[in-house]
Amino acid sequence: DYMLWNHEIVERKAENAMVSFEDRGYQFGDGVYEVIRIYDGKLHALDWHLDRLFYSMEQLAIRAPFSRSEIKQLLKQLTETNKFTADGKLYLQVTRGMQPRDHVYMEELDAIFYATVDCFDQPVEMWEKGVKVTLQEDIRWLRCDIKSLNLLGNVLARTKAQRNGYHEPLFHRDGIVRECGASNFYMIKDGVIHTHPTNNYILGGITRKKVLMFAEELAIPVEEREITVEELQEADECFLTATPLEIVPITQIDHQPIDHNQIGKITKRLQQYYRKRVY
Ligand code: PDD
Repeated sequence: DYMLWNHEIVERKAENAMVSFEDRGYQFGDGVYEVIRIYDGKLHALDWHLDRLFYSMEQLAIRAPFSRSEIKQLLKQLTETNKFTADGKLYLQVTRGMQPRDHVYMEELDAIFYATVDCFDQPVEMWEKGVKVTLQEDIRWLRCDIKSLNLLGNVLARTKAQRNGYHEPLFHRDGIVRECGASNFYMIKDGVIHTHPTNNYILGGITRKKVLMFAEELAIPVEEREITVEELQEADECFLTATPLEIVPITQIDHQPIDHNQIGKITKRLQQYYRKRVY
């Protein structure tokens, strides 16, 4: 196996990719990342992921250690070198760089980056059976639009949810449903898909972007708006989306069954269409 380590493809071994104790990613979570799907050996929606990566770096004033065309080439080279022909996912992270510990970052640091690829089996069981989610107060910071490495709010919430038998926490803040621990959230009511608008309260998911595009192609109406926690009780269907999972139906929110614990018609239609379109 090979990995990308700062402009070079190297054998995937810890000794080949050592990071200093003074790396700001290690000390402060000062960095950003992307998770990209590989279908049939090909990187999917790479341009959208790179748009978001550059946006995240820009928002944090991290000096990009590569140009867009360079990173594109390196990531393609990585998947090719690994002779990756199956389905999988690529993880790419960029940290601001190294300096003696100080909250205040120096301007001229050289950012450090790496990428790995791994096989990833289709989560067929989740697609067919759906998952349960549990409401939790959103204690994350107010820049959830940045795909930052600083994920403690998500880490604590997802761990708690999974220890209690739920796949994801469903975050609410100020009485509004925001998103899940590592995925976007959607509610269907009277044939309309409702989902949170893209702003600082959620991550603008790439899968979300695709789903909204596919909904338009299928002539399913979409409303990007704030959904209150109370409204969940009236939901016809709910689902979540994320790069590794695609579209996963939600069959239960805490003790409340959604659509009699069944997978809704519109959710199923979107799932089938999604499968067709990504291949
Ligand atoms: N998470 N919201 C949050 C908080 C996320 O962490 C993610 C993805 C999403 C969905 O975004 P996308 O459709 O672009 O994958 C929404 C990744 C997969 C992760 O942290 O591993």
